[in-house]
Amino acid sequence: MNDMTFFDTSEPDPPHPLLTWSQERIGLGVPVMDGYHQEFLSILAALGATPDGVFVALFKELVRHTHEHFSQEEKLMKETGFSAMREHIEEHRRVLSDLQAMLERAEHGRRRMPREFIKNHMPEWFQLHLVTMDSALAQHLKISLNLE
Ligand SMILES: [Fe+2]
Ligand SMILES: [Fe+2]
Repeated sequence: MNDMTFFDTSEPDPPHPLLTWSQERIGLGVPVMDGYHQEFLSILAALGATPDGVFVALFKELVRHTHEHFSQEEKLMKETGFSAMREHIEEHRRVLSDLQAMLERAEHGRRRMPREFIKNHMPEWFQLHLVTMDSALAQHLKISLNLE
């Protein structure tokens, strides 16, 4: 499978308005976090518009990418002694387990709920996570890592 078919967005399905990357609106000023967030949104947008034939493959890529994204944040939390680490890691675990459950449904051919989850729930979850837990982490990292 080449990249063109993997990220096929030819279906006329408008993306969720929260999926468009904007450094001003979404960027937190910590490059490693911003990089993962930008990729996360582009995979979510592609997944929302992808045909059934590649939905599961791209969903797996989203789960893999999210594992990596969360692991990187958690590594930074541990290295810098972030005080709200426990709640943030618990939230990551919860979301990964929801994603895994939706992936398993999709693998069994039950795509209605997973599609709804990707189209609406995940963009809304991300927006909330961004302005609460990830913003707090970014503020802490900017001070700890002297990014400003
Ligand atoms: Fe994040
Ligand atoms: Fe996070």
